[in-house]
Amino acid sequence: MTNQDTTRTYRIAALPGDGIGHEVLPAATRVLDALGTKHGLDFRWEHQEWGCEYYRRTGSMMPEDALSILAPTDAILLGAVGAPGVPDHVSLWGMLIPIRREFDQYVNLRPARLLPRVPSPLVPERVAGLDLVVVRENVEGEYSRIGGRLYGGTEHEIAVQESVFTRRGVSRVMDYAFDLAARRRGSLASATKSNGIVYTMPFWDEVFADRAAAHPDVTTSQYHIDALAALFALDPTRFDVVVASNLFGDILTDLAAAVAGSIGVAPSANINPERRFPSMFEPVHGSAPDIAGEGIANPVGQLWSSVLMLTHLEETEASEDLMSAIEQVLDDGVMTPDIGGTASTEDVTTAVIERLGAR
Ligand code: NAI
Ligand code: MG
Repeated sequence: MTNQDTTRTYRIAALPGDGIGHEVLPAATRVLDALGTKHGLDFRWEHQEWGCEYYRRTGSMMPEDALSILAPTDAILLGAVGAPGVPDHVSLWGMLIPIRREFDQYVNLRPARLLPRVPSPLVPERVAGLDLVVVRENVEGEYSRIGGRLYGGTEHEIAVQESVFTRRGVSRVMDYAFDLAARRRGSLASATKSNGIVYTMPFWDEVFADRAAAHPDVTTSQYHIDALAALFALDPTRFDVVVASNLFGDILTDLAAAVAGSIGVAPSANINPERRFPSMFEPVHGSAPDIAGEGIANPVGQLWSSVLMLTHLEETEASEDLMSAIEQVLDDGVMTPDIGGTASTEDVTTAVIERLGAR
């Protein structure tokens, strides 16, 4: 439906970050403005130039009151952070991780599916019909700040890193995955490693069995992460929804993105399902310093992340419209070099806007 008589307004924080974030984020805001005109959505962009340049000037990735600036927005659209010369743990822990944790974005949602003409490195028979979603736990697990180092530089040097798994944290991310599976093809696989990791992973499995009992409509399976990784390459189409801890989900989703064809098209959503805080939408890729400034960054990962944002805002029609415009443009062969084309970021952006207007 077009030209609706009520306009819905959204305050969206637009954070390009670094590198190609400055190319793909503006592409997405232009496309979303065009989509908004068509569907009666008014995006009020709140641009923030935070990231590594800001860090070089001020010594921090974002201002002290950044979270209170973001809190009243309806969603956060982020490009990518990271730049040569700034250690990656500084940029990650200075911006992305505080936003994910303080806003309790405990679900990291990463769909992987084949887009038209985007070549998978796997043989076509093996990936035909690939359509899976990884639900990664996003605020606890293996990525904790509990631990320490002792006896630095000596031959007795020790490094200890604790994992944190809580019943509340594991249950809620699994419940989200069960609900999602029930709305899709009804199957949920759990990534575990309870043969090698003897406390946290058997606990993970127990909570999975407990939550499965509360969701009898969903068929479940579980795999050790090593075998699961092999299956992602050998037989990825058997999966519908996969739930994984923070570390396992991180690794699996890069693998899923590679199997689906390119890191440049993969989207992600950091979601606070209770909507107490804004959720954050960002492509899976990083700031790609090797191609930054050349105008050839693939905007599809950022655009698909915008689709996830629209779904979260419950703008289903606009979300479906944008996804099919992206797919048509790829099907027309308008593609950036990373997926085998010759188009620029600008070409793809303009083509998507034209496609939206043509329907
Ligand atoms: P990367 O994803 O930035 O780049 C990996 C390779 O993929 C590069 O060859 C790059 O040119 C290509 N690539 C990535 N996105 C592309 C796109 N949209 N279009 C065309 N080609 C694309 O990963 P890398 O090189 O490991 O990291 C670069 C920086 O990004 C580092 O500082 C890293 O910490 C940061 N990073 C940030 C992330 C985030 O903001 N969530 C995620 C991953 C990395
Ligand atoms: Mg990763």
